Amino acid sequence: MTENVMVRIKQNLSILGLRNTYENIDEYLGNAINNKVPLTEFLDLLFEREAKAKINRSVENQIKMAGFPARKTFELYNFDFQTNLDTDMIDDLRTLRFIGNNENVIFLGTPGVGKTHLAIALGISAIEHKYSTYFISCHQLIQNLLKANHENRLDERLKQYAKYKVLIIDEIGYLPTSLEGANLFFQLIARRYEKHSTIFTTNKNFGEWQDIFQDNTISTAILDRILHHSKVVKIVGESYRLKERGELLTRKKQ
Ligand SMILES: Nc1ncnc2c1ncn2[C@@H]1O[C@H](COP(=O)(O)OP(=O)(O)OP(=O)(O)O)[C@@H](O)[C@H]1O
Ligand SMILES: [Mg+2]
Repeated sequence: MTENVMVRIKQNLSILGLRNTYENIDEYLGNAINNKVPLTEFLDLLFEREAKAKINRSVENQIKMAGFPARKTFELYNFDFQTNLDTDMIDDLRTLRFIGNNENVIFLGTPGVGKTHLAIALGISAIEHKYSTYFISCHQLIQNLLKANHENRLDERLKQYAKYKVLIIDEIGYLPTSLEGANLFFQLIARRYEKHSTIFTTNKNFGEWQDIFQDNTISTAILDRILHHSKVVKIVGESYRLKERGELLTRKKQ
């Protein structure tokens, strides 16, 4: 093959945006020639790798856009540490059946037991299965809704948050909410109700939600919709943060 042909091939690959093939064509061709790979097999391999690379880039992009505070996966979660966790329920959640059924998931438990970790892991898995996914803390979400309301853009904002197939609302009840905030939060929950899945993390039992949202009627209306089709994952156990801190202190003493 002349040098000119290689230059043209690379130019065309670049124009077509076939990044993986562009970056690896020399190696792929070298291997194919050395191993006398049949033409159809070579083309199959080329397109297969290009397609996989494209899917990976798209997943990575969506993970970046989803707003996760950290990258957490099920593989990184130590299930042996949290012995009370209902692993059958986690296995069921991992099938992502709940998304198809427009069900909600609530991770409920004390600090450090891995609620946010598991919510992110589900979110990443959802993205890998092509579900649009977004992560936001409850406080930030309500702040954004309040701001939009004051700027007369509430409907636009609500539409944005209502459209995700999976919305993860982290830390329900960690910070106080105004009555107006609770009202706007209710509007979002009502819009998503039975249409899409929402994943919540909270350290407040449902009986305490009235205090979070100030008003009994609103908090009942919110809870009613959230819990109607939902899976509640209660995590009762030790904080992983404290375990890691304890290990660090022990290491320092040694
Ligand atoms: N079982 C576990 N295996 C591995 N890492 C864990 C486990 N549980 C928690 N972690 C890690 O410990 C840290 C705290 O977990 P996480 O943020 O999920 O807790 P949380 O339940 O959301 O707590 P909070 O109520 O304070 O928000 C994170 O870095 C998380 O990855
Ligand atoms: Mg958390």
